[in-house]
Amino acid sequence: MNSIISHKSSNLSGEMIVPGDKSISHRSLIIGSAVTGKIIVNNLLESEDVLATANALRKMGVSINKLSNNKWEVFGSGIGSLSGINNILDMGNSGTGARLLMGLVAGSDVEATFIGDQSLSKRPMKRIISPLIETGATIENFNNDTLPIKIKGSKITLPIEYESTVASAQVKSSILLAGLSSIGTTSIIEPSLSRDHTERMLKYFGAKIETIKLKNSKWKIILEGIPSLKPLDINVPSDPSSASFPIVSALITPNSKVKVMNVCVNELRTGLFKTLIEMGAKIKFMNSREMNGELIADIVAETSKLNGITIPKSRAASMIDEYPILAIAAVKAEGDTIMEGVEELRYKETDRIKSVCEGLQKVGVQTIDTHNSMIVKGIGPQGQINQNVEINSNLDHRIAMSFLCLGLISEKPIKVDNTDTIKSSFPFFLDKMKKIGAKFEQL
Ligand code: S3P
Repeated sequence: MNSIISHKSSNLSGEMIVPGDKSISHRSLIIGSAVTGKIIVNNLLESEDVLATANALRKMGVSINKLSNNKWEVFGSGIGSLSGINNILDMGNSGTGARLLMGLVAGSDVEATFIGDQSLSKRPMKRIISPLIETGATIENFNNDTLPIKIKGSKITLPIEYESTVASAQVKSSILLAGLSSIGTTSIIEPSLSRDHTERMLKYFGAKIETIKLKNSKWKIILEGIPSLKPLDINVPSDPSSASFPIVSALITPNSKVKVMNVCVNELRTGLFKTLIEMGAKIKFMNSREMNGELIADIVAETSKLNGITIPKSRAASMIDEYPILAIAAVKAEGDTIMEGVEELRYKETDRIKSVCEGLQKVGVQTIDTHNSMIVKGIGPQGQINQNVEINSNLDHRIAMSFLCLGLISEKPIKVDNTDTIKSSFPFFLDKMKKIGAKFEQL
């Protein structure tokens, strides 16, 4: 396993194109396999997570080919067309790949066992398994809520109405994908809206799907089963979660100004940028435009004086992957940054509340960790970090990248171990960050 050392830096500058969005990349392969005909996917994120999804689909009979860098073709054979028995699908580090594919498997006459790495094998799966059983899927080997899990799907699923207690795009998408094979309508109720890339992509391909706000301020997503999905090409916008690393680096590093191009600014993904602006960040959105049903823009960020604020639970779903890097921005803020209602962070690639708090405490920053909230006590613009520390990423790409960004403002270098998983979402992170001036050193 590799380690990276991050050294104090200043004057970050230049333009960066971060890789394609991870959520949309997974969906373009998974939903692409259910259209009837060939689609081209441009700017696919070629990360380990997405490649695991491509390999799993191939094992179940889908023809998927790389044409050139980041340009792929997917031959969709229609809804319910996955095939095979005894498929062993290694989903690596990817919760999205595993959970979404389980939904598609539930709606095909196919049998598959899902396995994953040490981190994925600890993540909760009951949230997916319970609704999929309601759609008619048969589940075997289901112990302790975790992988490995064997699923036997059926070509026609039962239409269900399911109320999820968590706002999770993975749960919602898994049910919707199973619902593609239903005669009738499938609906899911969420406590607040999670990212809606599945809904947008299904609509783009021609499905009838609508989202309504209920009187109790929950949300209901309704899909008509067996839609005819047209083969249309997809351009994957750049990933806002990956963009958050150069953006926060520019905000906290002296004399910096960085522009990140073509970023997906779907409002269910931009909670971090909204929060940073409320904290005083100089962030500008330029050249907003639409691309296959998704809004994109170029984002400029420059060195800013930040103030701690309270981030309400209602914003959590729109920035769920960005709390580790927000915590790094919060270190440089004046006052406390209070992140409310973030319990879901405990079920990500690692317990992110624990990892962030432990890491920050190691560098001398005070944090408070309750069951469902996290507080970072900012050191302010004049404060200094000067401990020589080594951080273990706990096989979590976002923890690794976040602490490398913290190293940019630390008097002594910060070493981050187990950085290989960065490849699961942000290939060439090191090179791209070095190009704008970050002093990162691969060991
Ligand atoms: C994802 C949804 C999020 C996010 C994950 C990607 C997706 O999880 O954390 O990285 O692509 O659907 P939940 O919405 O399930 O919390």
